[in-house]
Amino acid sequence: MIIKQASRIRPSEITDRDVWLRRRQLIKAAAAGSGLLLGGMSGVAAALYRGPGDLNRIGNLRETDHGKELKPTAYKHITTYNNFYELGYGKRAPAENAGFLKPRPWTIKVFGECNRPSVVDIEDVLKLDQEERIYRFRCVEAWAMVVPWVGIPLGDFLKRFEPNSRAKYVEFTTLYDPEQLPGQKRNVLDWPYREGLRMDEAMHPLAFLATGLYGEVLPNQNGAPLRLVVPWKYGFKNIKSIVSIRFTEKMPNNTWRRTASDEYGFYANVNPDVPHPRWSQKRHRVLGKGLFGSKEDTLMFNGYAEEVAHLYRGMDLRKNF
Ligand code: MTE
Repeated sequence: MIIKQASRIRPSEITDRDVWLRRRQLIKAAAAGSGLLLGGMSGVAAALYRGPGDLNRIGNLRETDHGKELKPTAYKHITTYNNFYELGYGKRAPAENAGFLKPRPWTIKVFGECNRPSVVDIEDVLKLDQEERIYRFRCVEAWAMVVPWVGIPLGDFLKRFEPNSRAKYVEFTTLYDPEQLPGQKRNVLDWPYREGLRMDEAMHPLAFLATGLYGEVLPNQNGAPLRLVVPWKYGFKNIKSIVSIRFTEKMPNNTWRRTASDEYGFYANVNPDVPHPRWSQKRHRVLGKGLFGSKEDTLMFNGYAEEVAHLYRGMDLRKNF
């Protein structure tokens, strides 16, 4: 994943995943005799934020020391070059179609193996103390950006619901509403988008639920009003626009594993030694550096090995990719 101005993106640079999904969509559309996905959607509900300054600021914000040495990627790159397939294909589509999504009112259902299942209003989540957390965040198609996220530690949030001893994993689910997320009108992926973490991963202080970036609430295309960020994993783990969180005994079957289990594993830890079946994962581009983003070596666990390697001690990370 490389964040650049759209005008500078050459067609040859469109990522393999997008091409692969488009091909799937074409095959399915042809089989169903239907039109192309999101054909007339682009621009219908354009919501390109110019910000920061366009969206509501988050009040109770505490700056962390974490990541202070990193220079944040420009707002426009972070908000106009990403994946959110429910809002279209191509890196600019989620920003162009962001206006379809209505992030208020919004609730998050927390249930499963816990003593205090609840439905939480997003306004109450925003009232919790928020921390500003700057992370280098890398995505699976090999681009990286430094995002000044605002969020709450995931573990602290989950503890409120008192997970019980059978809670070995936690599963997250995105909103299912084809009117707000028109990409769901075609079954290119198995909607709604789902992701999961092992409980010890979810409890790790680096994992968090993002409510904003650049001091403001999240732009829709970045997963408003609440999305996951796990900085040591590939970007597809960072599920957007979450409506439910379930504690489970069994490993959740996340969307990309259901779609292509040989290409995307459950753990998805950034690992330069395990190539994707169709490309190397040894290097990535840093968006906003140089004209097309400068390339640099990918680090194990995205550079967070010291903090998280112990979670995987004794595991074969080639098998558990
Ligand atoms: N969440 C949902 N619901 N739908 C998606 O298509 N794409 C994922 C992830 N979360 C996706 C999603 C992928 S592949 C990536 S790389 C990141 O979101 C990219 O978005 P970001 O740049 O806003 O983090």
